[in-house]
Amino acid sequence: MAFEKSILCIGAGYVGGPTMAMIARKCPQYRVTVVDTNPKRIAAWNSDTLPIYEPGLDEIVKGARGRNLFFSTRIDAAIQEADVIFVSVNTPTKTFGAGAGMAADLQYWEKTARQIREASQSPKIIVEKSTLPVKTALAMERILTATANGVRFDILSNPEFMAEGTGIKDLESPDRVLIGSRETPDGIRARGELVKIYANWVPRERIITSNIWSSELSKLVSNAFLAQRISSINAISSLCEKTEANITEVARAVGMDSRLGDKFLNASIGFGGSCFKKDILNLVYLCRQYGLDEVADYWDGVVRINDYQKERFVLNMLRAMFNTLAGKRICLFGFAFKANTGDTRESPAIYVSRRLLEERAELVITDPRALANAGVDLADTKGEIAFVEDPCEAAAGCDAIAVMTEWGIYATLDFKKIYETMRKPAFIFDGRNILDHQNLFRIGFNVFPVGKPPLTHF
Ligand code: UDX
Ligand code: ADP
Repeated sequence: MAFEKSILCIGAGYVGGPTMAMIARKCPQYRVTVVDTNPKRIAAWNSDTLPIYEPGLDEIVKGARGRNLFFSTRIDAAIQEADVIFVSVNTPTKTFGAGAGMAADLQYWEKTARQIREASQSPKIIVEKSTLPVKTALAMERILTATANGVRFDILSNPEFMAEGTGIKDLESPDRVLIGSRETPDGIRARGELVKIYANWVPRERIITSNIWSSELSKLVSNAFLAQRISSINAISSLCEKTEANITEVARAVGMDSRLGDKFLNASIGFGGSCFKKDILNLVYLCRQYGLDEVADYWDGVVRINDYQKERFVLNMLRAMFNTLAGKRICLFGFAFKANTGDTRESPAIYVSRRLLEERAELVITDPRALANAGVDLADTKGEIAFVEDPCEAAAGCDAIAVMTEWGIYATLDFKKIYETMRKPAFIFDGRNILDHQNLFRIGFNVFPVGKPPLTHF
């Protein structure tokens, strides 16, 4: 069958894979190819065990793969064939040189831009899908047009707003799709082409357009606002612990104000994930570059409160367990940065694990999806760590359980049985406030929620 259009995505990660799978599902008239430099990743996308866990993804990939969805390592050939190229390669925070620890590392992006330039023989629409600092599109445009081989490139910004764990739902019915372009006739025509692709399943009024810089900045700002809400509620959780107010009650009262809304008000051990910290640090760096130090400090505070919350959690454990964790066995319930994903990037569990090991505790880590990643994240640590699939088995013989991830399964466990197998006094530190604290207390546990008075037997 001849396809109407050929769409390519460079970068087969958490963003590229699911996004392209959704386009392929919704648009059988397009040929969709996803390429990556990592042959193992591509092999996994072509196998029965996909490289990422995302509820509902398997079904969508398996339905379209081989029909109009293809995963490949032949990047140059795929570039040549493509009409529209999405770029979703990784843009981690720089670890070296100017802007280290703050700015985005654009080396993968730049390499991709050069590769597109070298391989292209026909006009292309290039869609920026990775999270990138504002004005990256301009740099991209300069690289692509640096040699006069006559090929026309139009650059668009189309930030991805999906969240892991709910990625398929977010892709299927997004709150909005944002497309930024240059406001020239060519830019507007190119953005019209991308609007047409999304309009195959997204209601037209949810597809919004803007200038390219607004689009790039909107992604950073959306994530900064979301993270700011979590830091706000977490900051108040520390005050609740001092004053015996209850963070759940406060969040409910605050969230019922329709101007504020009730989402993203769950106090926790802190936010993780590949985007929040990276995007805020990007925003901070951008502000500093423009001499806006007060604004930079304001947003930096969101990250500082998040670091404080993680450290506070560890110190609470230390204090509760008689000021020493040396030789104590602590079971971490969950390692993923949130439920329904195996992703552990920036997971607060990494920080907590490292700190507990520093205090010479022994760790038992359990998680339904993230144990392999946890092993990689902690590979360089010294100390005793066991990885155990079954949470009940993992908790046996431990002094404490610390809930890191809000997996639904943890609330359904038989804690009476678990209590019997643990060392006494037994502690539970619920970093996600998902367990029935009164019930745990009745069973015999000493219970330490976030932002609520502890329930102790001494
Ligand atoms: C985020 C944005 O939500 C998404 O729009 C963007 O495209 C990518 O970044 P993601 O990081 O996948 O998505 O997950 P999200 O649901 O936003 O959670 C981020 C972190 O905040 C998690 O660690 C989560 O546990 C934590 N969180 C979230 C809280 O601690 N409390 C809350 O109330 C909500
Ligand atoms: P994200 O969460 O943004 O999707 P990931 O790290 O999951 O980030 O995915 C990015 C993918 O991009 C990785 O699989 C990586 O191998 C791939 N990648 C990086 N550089 C290139 C490149 N120059 N060409 C093709 N793929 C690349």
